[in-house]
Amino acid sequence: MDTVRIAIVGSEFAAGLHARALERNPHAKVVAACSIDEESLLRFVKAHSIADSYDDYTRMFAREDVDVVCVCAPNFLHREISIAALEAGKHVICEKPLATTLEDAVAMVEAARKTERLLMYAEDWLNAPAVLRVREIIDEGGIGEVLYIKAKECHNGSHSIYAQTKEYCGGGAMIHLGIHPMAFARWLVASEIVEVSGMTTGGGEENFLHKGYGGEDWSAALIRLENGVRAFIEGNYITHGGMDDVIEIYGTDGLIKIDLTFGSPLSVYSRHGFKYAVEKAETTRGWTRPAVDEEANLGYVSEMAHFIDCVRNGRQPVFGTRAEDGAAVLQAVLAVYESAKSGRTVELKALFS
Ligand SMILES: NC(=O)c1ccc[n+]([C@@H]2O[C@H](COP(=O)([O-])OP(=O)(O)OC[C@H]3O[C@@H](n4cnc5c(N)ncnc54)[C@H](O)[C@@H]3O)[C@@H](O)[C@H]2O)c1
Repeated sequence: MDTVRIAIVGSEFAAGLHARALERNPHAKVVAACSIDEESLLRFVKAHSIADSYDDYTRMFAREDVDVVCVCAPNFLHREISIAALEAGKHVICEKPLATTLEDAVAMVEAARKTERLLMYAEDWLNAPAVLRVREIIDEGGIGEVLYIKAKECHNGSHSIYAQTKEYCGGGAMIHLGIHPMAFARWLVASEIVEVSGMTTGGGEENFLHKGYGGEDWSAALIRLENGVRAFIEGNYITHGGMDDVIEIYGTDGLIKIDLTFGSPLSVYSRHGFKYAVEKAETTRGWTRPAVDEEANLGYVSEMAHFIDCVRNGRQPVFGTRAEDGAAVLQAVLAVYESAKSGRTVELKALFS
């Protein structure tokens, strides 16, 4: 197949990331989009020159000319939308988290296996160019054996009403932000997470800053991987000044630091400000470090290229981006919540054989 034809469910932030990344792929064409918000859908299809729009995804999935569905809808809908697409014979690219419950995640993996379609887990960190370069350095023995990873994604709060409501999203900063570094640690050392100890703020009035959010606005976890590597994972919504994605990797013979969001070659001082510096930054006045090609640097462009290649050539996605990986990472995130609630360490067992 030379051109993979794609339909997107959702028309807001994540849908925009997918559409822009796919526009840069010569083998991908977004042919349709669906959203329950008519105004947003119209804006979205116009901005990306998408021919057809739908208010009901089942009608969109009935189209024979759609090969892949991108699920960019709220977390609690990932299960029903993904399974409907798989059963309609489509391959699926599902945004993180794979689902909001383990039961949903397992049902999604089973549906992909039964329908023999690809269910690809969109963890963009694993395709960020800086992360891929670090992978090479580690594989070449640059820092010896990895011992400890410290990684976080933090910003000042989600724009999405769904992400602020626990019933819709399954939690707070850990399921939305901490899930990236959690997936990264597991992927980097190719080992399962076997032990989790977590702490979070309590949601609502028990949050530090975001009293209107049902889920926590600060979360941290200590994890142990099967191969003995330890990691400290953080996700929080109390970080002002723009999205802060920072990773430190400690090895027997060296260490690596990655700054995914402020590692720009630009330093700008502006008295009056300009349009945009970096995701979630409140201001562009004074000194800023404006992102250069944020979509590529955060991994969306290469991630989509990998998934399109999988569909075109009948390949499985790499470790870390398969549906089973999405389920394993969700299991660890939910264990953070369980541990934070009980005050005990949680041990994890393999979900799939
Ligand atoms: N990988 C990343 O960096 C990243 C970044 C942001 C969001 N996400 C993920 O992407 C997903 C969407 O997030 P967002 O920030 O775009 O959320 P959003 O709230 O901004 O947008 C949600 C979209 O889904 C649509 N929608 C809701 N119910 C629907 C239904 N029944 N049928 C069709 N469309 C429906 C809404 O109209 C809206 O267009 C979430 O799962 C989120 O976790 C990932």
